[in-house]
Amino acid sequence: MDHEADAHRTDLMTITRYVLNEQSRYPESRGDFSILLSHIVLGCKFVCTTVNKAGLAKLLGLAGETNVQGEEQKKLDVLSNEVFVKALISSGRTCILVSEEDEEATFVDPSLRGKYCVVFDPLDGSSNIDCGVSIGTIFGIYMVKDKENVTIDDVLQPGKNMLAAGYCMYGSSCMIPKKGKIYSVNEGNAKNWDRPTTKYVEKCKFPDDGSSPKSLRYVGSMVADVHRTLLYGGIFLYPSDKKSPDGKLRVLYEVFPMSFLMEQAGGQSFTGKQRALDLVPTKIHERSPIFLGSYDDVEEIKALYAAEENND
Ligand code: AHG
Ligand code: MN
Ligand code: MN
Repeated sequence: MDHEADAHRTDLMTITRYVLNEQSRYPESRGDFSILLSHIVLGCKFVCTTVNKAGLAKLLGLAGETNVQGEEQKKLDVLSNEVFVKALISSGRTCILVSEEDEEATFVDPSLRGKYCVVFDPLDGSSNIDCGVSIGTIFGIYMVKDKENVTIDDVLQPGKNMLAAGYCMYGSSCMIPKKGKIYSVNEGNAKNWDRPTTKYVEKCKFPDDGSSPKSLRYVGSMVADVHRTLLYGGIFLYPSDKKSPDGKLRVLYEVFPMSFLMEQAGGQSFTGKQRALDLVPTKIHERSPIFLGSYDDVEEIKALYAAEENND
């Protein structure tokens, strides 16, 4: 038995330990951010155990409601949302919350108010819940401008103003490669794509520069598709199409946090018009087309959109 390797294996670096270690490096800080993160982690842990026992606990299937965006809510969407909202409010560190599942933003009661604004998708990949494919939670954090005067504009800020963003994947420090071998898109929408997206996907399959074709991988849970992209590289696309000119994914709690993480890892994120993190949302459930992933792969799609503009 190798005792050294064994000791290493049991030296667990949990997220809670990581956050506490980081915090202790700044003795002058009040620990508000760590407290907020620990409440997000609490929500993630609850969702994780609930997802694991969903079949047994009769939590699979529809809740019988549709959300503000006309999408069917699953029982787990509703439950996860409730747990996150309650955990975030009770942290005492938040002032405004935007969730995919709630039509309106939640303004925290002044007695429990803190300086952070949290935007989140409590459970991303709902259509994968019932078949056990990876799903996850996505979040982004902004700082309120004036704690005494919290307004909706505090969450209608460009993504580059986010202080932090993250995701937690359920179910079964990264640097992404500069260029990847995978493209990830719902090709069932190809009939309605615009020209640059159509051209790009064609080039993935039939490269004209002598390189090998890319592989297609598409889970249909953004968390899982972006997680793979962070680890293996390549590009994830949810473009606009004739039916959904703004694409499908929501700016505040899907596009921004994932774009933020992609840039932190050395990749890029593009809307078809601009850097995704420069977008300034005008409503909380706004959508945007999105292309994110390895730096060079996103460069290529940017070039195709630029060429399209020059043709017009
Ligand atoms: P949600 O389950 O939170 O509504 O989000 C689903 C999103 C995202 O996870 C994924 O990238 C995309 O929808 C898949 O859409 P298609 O089924 O249209 O491919
Ligand atoms: Mn989602
Ligand atoms: Mn969701």
